[in-house]
Amino acid sequence: MFSLRCISCGSEESIDEIVYRCRRCNDLLEVQLDLERAKERVDKREWSSKPLSVWKYIGLIPVFDKSKIVTIGEGGTGLHRCDNLAEELGVKNLYVKNEGENPTGSFKDRGMTIGVTKARELNVSEVACASTGNTAASLAAYSAKARLRCMILIPHGAIALGKLAQAMIYGAKVIEIKGNFDDALSMVLDASKSLGLYLLNSINPFRIEGQKTAAFEICDQLGWHAPDRLVIPIGNAGNITAYWKGFKEFYELGLIKGLPMMTGVQASGSSPIIRAIKEGKKTIQPVKDPRTIASAIRIGRPVNWKRAMIAIRESDGKGETVTDEEIISAQRLLARKEGLFVEPASASSIAGLKKLIELGEIDREEEIVCVATGHGLKDPDSAIEYCEEPILIEPDLKILREVIEGVVIKV
Ligand code: F0G
Repeated sequence: MFSLRCISCGSEESIDEIVYRCRRCNDLLEVQLDLERAKERVDKREWSSKPLSVWKYIGLIPVFDKSKIVTIGEGGTGLHRCDNLAEELGVKNLYVKNEGENPTGSFKDRGMTIGVTKARELNVSEVACASTGNTAASLAAYSAKARLRCMILIPHGAIALGKLAQAMIYGAKVIEIKGNFDDALSMVLDASKSLGLYLLNSINPFRIEGQKTAAFEICDQLGWHAPDRLVIPIGNAGNITAYWKGFKEFYELGLIKGLPMMTGVQASGSSPIIRAIKEGKKTIQPVKDPRTIASAIRIGRPVNWKRAMIAIRESDGKGETVTDEEIISAQRLLARKEGLFVEPASASSIAGLKKLIELGEIDREEEIVCVATGHGLKDPDSAIEYCEEPILIEPDLKILREVIEGVVIKV
């Protein structure tokens, strides 16, 4: 039903062993679904009686021992129709898939419920990841639930406060690296080999298997079709890879008729993939010192770059970069038009869409889904910094009236 296959040379590896890279050419591995056998396991009628969740699609996920499942209620996030925002941007059909509604507040929980279940199937006792914050929060939570020891490597001083608090309260061992995310990732890759830690970054193919369920849910929520376009932030590029895999599997299983144009967005100070797309290059040029206010996607050497480029090119999609100012203003716009508070990295999908519309690169009739990857409360500092300050007054009704009527009062 499932096998592990190299994304470059096609060599197969055992799905029951701990292996992240092809032993022949060292490229990444991907879970391969046997479509004919999968078709027998897909029952749309049975699905229709089940609530949305990652585990609704268990027939298409490589989990073999149901007694090992580690779950805290992931998936089933809202696909919000955003008419106010659509009107502002001048498009007809706009939705936001709000992944901040997951248990730890980001899409990472979809990957971790599968990844940590796999860790239990493989009988490991220690798990690890490098992170810009959300992977850390999620892995810490799921490993706590699974009673596994958890090691987190984060770039010192470079992750949002809420995410750090989460990793700490869930009881992970948090190690700060005096370097950036790319340094932390290369250290944890080495450490996983030499210290025998089970690695749960998106190099782990089972993470992608959980995350692909967001694409399944979108089709399910739209009434069994894919949107014309999916707009998604890119960091380490696991998520765009997962969505594309999910849409393609539904398409190949005959569950949907078309595929979306995959539209990736990176912050302009941290955009190796989009630059390569725009310049028509085959490979990326890593960014040594990535910079952006969106700390979640401050990544200069994305491990899944190859698959992100395949997703964009194969789907006839696009790539766009956005500045910090554009990200902050999109974050505010989404909050004020739709009541959705998302973190800066998530708002980059809205910023990217706005830019592409203004550049005339998107047909205004399209049905568009923007992915909002993480909750705004993860990073309250950036929201507070860029909003108007609260007005401080004495407890006096006369002053309150003057403030409400717009008279400027200084205390
Ligand atoms: N949005 C948020 C909120 C994220 O946390 C991330 C990645 C992304 C977008 C990009 O997703 O890496 O799959 O392309 N965060 C990782 C982390 C790197 O460590 O939490 P991607």
